[in-house]
Amino acid sequence: TDPARIRNFCIIAHIDHGKSTLADRMLQVTGTVPEREMRAQYLDRMDIERERGITIKSQAVRMHWDVDGAAYALNMIDTPGHVDFSYEVSRSLAACEGAILLVDAAQGIEAQTLANLYLAMENDLEIIPVLNKIDLPAADPERVAGEIADLIGGDPDDILKVSGKTGMGVEELLDRVVERIPHPVGEADAPARAMIFDSVYDPYRGVVTYVRMVDGKLTPREKIQMMSTGAEHEALEIGVSSPEPVPTKGLAVGEVGYLITGVKDVRQSKVGDTVTTKLKPASEALPGYTDPKPMVFSGLYPIDGSDYPVLREALDKLKLSDAALQYEPETSVALGFGFRCGFLGLLHLEIISERLRREFDLDLIATAPSVVYQVTAEDGTEVTVTNPSEYPDGKIASVREPMVRVAILAPKDYVGTIMELCQSRRGSLMGMEYLGERVELRYGMPLGEIVFDFFDHLKSRTQGYASLDYEPMGEQEADLVKVDILLQGDKVDAFSAIVHRDNAYHYGTMMAERLRKLIPRQQFEVPIQAAIGARVIARETIRAIRKDVLAKCYGGDISRKRKLLEKQKEGKKRMKMVGRVEVPQEAFIAALSGD
Ligand code: GTP
Repeated sequence: TDPARIRNFCIIAHIDHGKSTLADRMLQVTGTVPEREMRAQYLDRMDIERERGITIKSQAVRMHWDVDGAAYALNMIDTPGHVDFSYEVSRSLAACEGAILLVDAAQGIEAQTLANLYLAMENDLEIIPVLNKIDLPAADPERVAGEIADLIGGDPDDILKVSGKTGMGVEELLDRVVERIPHPVGEADAPARAMIFDSVYDPYRGVVTYVRMVDGKLTPREKIQMMSTGAEHEALEIGVSSPEPVPTKGLAVGEVGYLITGVKDVRQSKVGDTVTTKLKPASEALPGYTDPKPMVFSGLYPIDGSDYPVLREALDKLKLSDAALQYEPETSVALGFGFRCGFLGLLHLEIISERLRREFDLDLIATAPSVVYQVTAEDGTEVTVTNPSEYPDGKIASVREPMVRVAILAPKDYVGTIMELCQSRRGSLMGMEYLGERVELRYGMPLGEIVFDFFDHLKSRTQGYASLDYEPMGEQEADLVKVDILLQGDKVDAFSAIVHRDNAYHYGTMMAERLRKLIPRQQFEVPIQAAIGARVIARETIRAIRKDVLAKCYGGDISRKRKLLEKQKEGKKRMKMVGRVEVPQEAFIAALSGD
């Protein structure tokens, strides 16, 4: 296709603002998917995605659209909507010349949309603002159009009003895509350079790599080369999705399509990498490639220890389709054999544990999420700590923790309560801006404070109205300490935590108290202590058993924890020995899952 007849665009939208519905409608209006084959959320393939209504993996679809008798190829590149996948978002944006900024006319812009909009603007994309769900009685197009114009300039009356549901305005939108978005530009005769913006594992075909051709061309059967690693593969098949895969004779400047090389692991075809040909390799890779870096770590343990091999196999399998997932075996006194896993963020963690539960039928317990700390000992040695139990015991010179730039968008009435929450989480205010009735607050905050139920608190303080986004912002030194929990003098590894010195006491007393309620009495008295190094900061005692009170050692309210306990088969109680103390594994699990 002549690059002048190509338009590459994506849709930037907050979750639930109707991106999938609009995409479906576009497929229909352009005749890309025949009426009888149309089904809702055509592009969201994964079950979990569909159920939770989130898009995890991006994909590209080619559509045809005529304007004034001329045929155009529109490539719609789907971007993942969530912060955890911001690197993937940035690569999908880099594959486009323009973006549709889709905003629910009954809601207005959200923090997530803002973050991605800024990213699109930094990439010099042409932005087409669109109000969606215009059919809703609650739609307030005037107000939302005002908000959008405040943000990106332009005339509010010029903003298109559409309904993905009824199809209203969708044809005008397609016309506008052709009209406003610049066509791709590249050098047709230069050595091939294609940017990988997505890479998906398919159990039948191996890895399917989605690329945007920048310069030159790729043809089937050609030897190709990944520029970050130098790895060579054969392009077994090249094609475009419309939206089912259709093999083609190759891809040329500006085109978007897929290639299949028979590799079995997405790590061999990394998002952001540049593909060139072996025969005539490009000398310089396209800019912007980075390796995905896990930000949040958690230990995953099978509740039934005999499931360990299943868990290993499951992780091996998930890794094929998820280049960002990391794991290595670890053992815990309290929880037995499991894996230390690294994730891009909390949602990534949730998705993986959910998939393990659902697709592999595993019952799992996850330890509290932890971030990556850089610890410098007094003798100058540096340690990277992703698991509190690896925290060095000797004298510590300094600890650095990852920081993030947080953006919160909420109705302005909630400013006070949000500021209070952010301050209690060691946030420092970086800026504040009013957008009509709403306010955008920007904070610098330790990531460690966010991975711990920050979002839940934010939501409950704002009746669910606040939205949140964050991005990495380097590291900062902080007064952090490791709190250990000891049973009769023995450390229980799964409960060690790295916390700010000011929160150490709170964490220590909370855990000690929780364990006192959960651990059954023994023949002897069992002290539970929380300690920083050798210094005890909190203490509880489990009194010794009295002869005639054998039954019902568990007291107290463990209502929600019971759910977990019930899963345990009767007569199959696993006891863990911590020193001389016998603890049922479920007590540990309950203590970890309590709030
Ligand atoms: P993610 O995939 O999670 O990003 O969500 P999405 O933005 O793709 O939203 P989706 O298309 O799934 O739509 C969210 C909800 O809004 C669904 O219940 C849709 O039926 C509804 N919806 C989407 N577009 C419209 C519209 O134009 N009008 C009305 N009334 N409802 C709509």
